[in-house]
Amino acid sequence: MTAPAPSPPSAPIELPLESIVGPRIDREEARQLSGLLPVLVQDLTEIDWRLHEVLGSKYSHLTEAARYACSTGGKRIRPLLMAATFRALGQESTAAIRSLCAASQLIHTATLVHDDVIDHAETRRGQPSMPRAFGVPLSIVTGDYLFVRAFQLAAEYSRTIILRSAEACADLVEGEVLQDSAQFDLSRGREHYLRVIERKTAALIASALGSVAEIAGSTPAIVEDAIAYGRSLGIAFQIRDDLLDVHGDPDLTGKPLYTDLREGNPTLLTLEAYHRLDSRHQAEFERLFQLRRKRTRHLLRLKELTDSTDAAAEVEAEARRWSDRAIGSLARFPPGVYRTFLEWLARGAAERRF
Ligand code: IPE
Ligand code: IPE
Ligand code: MG
Ligand code: MG
Repeated sequence: MTAPAPSPPSAPIELPLESIVGPRIDREEARQLSGLLPVLVQDLTEIDWRLHEVLGSKYSHLTEAARYACSTGGKRIRPLLMAATFRALGQESTAAIRSLCAASQLIHTATLVHDDVIDHAETRRGQPSMPRAFGVPLSIVTGDYLFVRAFQLAAEYSRTIILRSAEACADLVEGEVLQDSAQFDLSRGREHYLRVIERKTAALIASALGSVAEIAGSTPAIVEDAIAYGRSLGIAFQIRDDLLDVHGDPDLTGKPLYTDLREGNPTLLTLEAYHRLDSRHQAEFERLFQLRRKRTRHLLRLKELTDSTDAAAEVEAEARRWSDRAIGSLARFPPGVYRTFLEWLARGAAERRF
């Protein structure tokens, strides 16, 4: 059997402004940004092609499953950050990092496929999740396949870059294991939560941007700044994501509500709310949170208890502090429209509704 010829990636890429830079963009900012979008959309389209090419397998069912996982693309925030960082560091074209961007998006997609198995998620990006569409066994091997293809793409880069990427993948796995070690446990607190999200989400973004800066020929100081920017943005992004688990609109996020609550993953929102309740309500909250099989009324009561506190405002403020930190890390980047765009992306990570 020969590998099927690549067919074009499904739909043309759209970059809805609000989904990437947050809802507070003003008219002048929107005007500046709209000038950049065609260039970035072209970058993302070329990255998509690279990704699509590498997914062909001898077995059409595996190719179909891998392409299903990648077909909607999601927000493509990682390749977008990489392309914008490369251009912010003075590069005119993203050809030199295209494979690396595709590899990062593949690694990210692989983690989502496995994550949906772990979290028993029904939907992803507005369509049936991989385990729903293809079953758990094929989802597990497809996730593995995406990881392996990612490292095939990364093989053309330097040893430092490959080792940095491997380290980020190890962080990801450790993040999941750490998260699992605190399942149904409200006593581990913010420090533990931050350790989890730094590994499961921020590490991959940080590593990708560090490698991009390295390929751009930046000084070691700028490489470190790119890593710090990616790390802080990643933390803001995950804090916001966890808030959207309770306060998001599934039509916009494409994912079901209350997955973290149902699965007993203590998020910053849960921890801050629990902390603020009086002892009677704390006991009720803990009892419901620890139920292994929660009914809708349990989830709604947990939300009601959460909303009786000002935890959501504190969580929003914490996400903004990380996005401010990310913006601070860009101070030594060359000033210009792409640096401004990276600042908007950091703001969007903390404020997005998608
Ligand atoms: C989802 O990531 C998992 C998190 C790290 C929060 P994204 O929100 O970037 O997912 P897609 O790729 O846009 O679907
Ligand atoms: C993020 O965790 C997934 C990884 C980074 C592995 P979540 O479980 O919070 O992500 P979503 O909400 O399912 O996208
Ligand atoms: Mg999940
Ligand atoms: Mg998860």
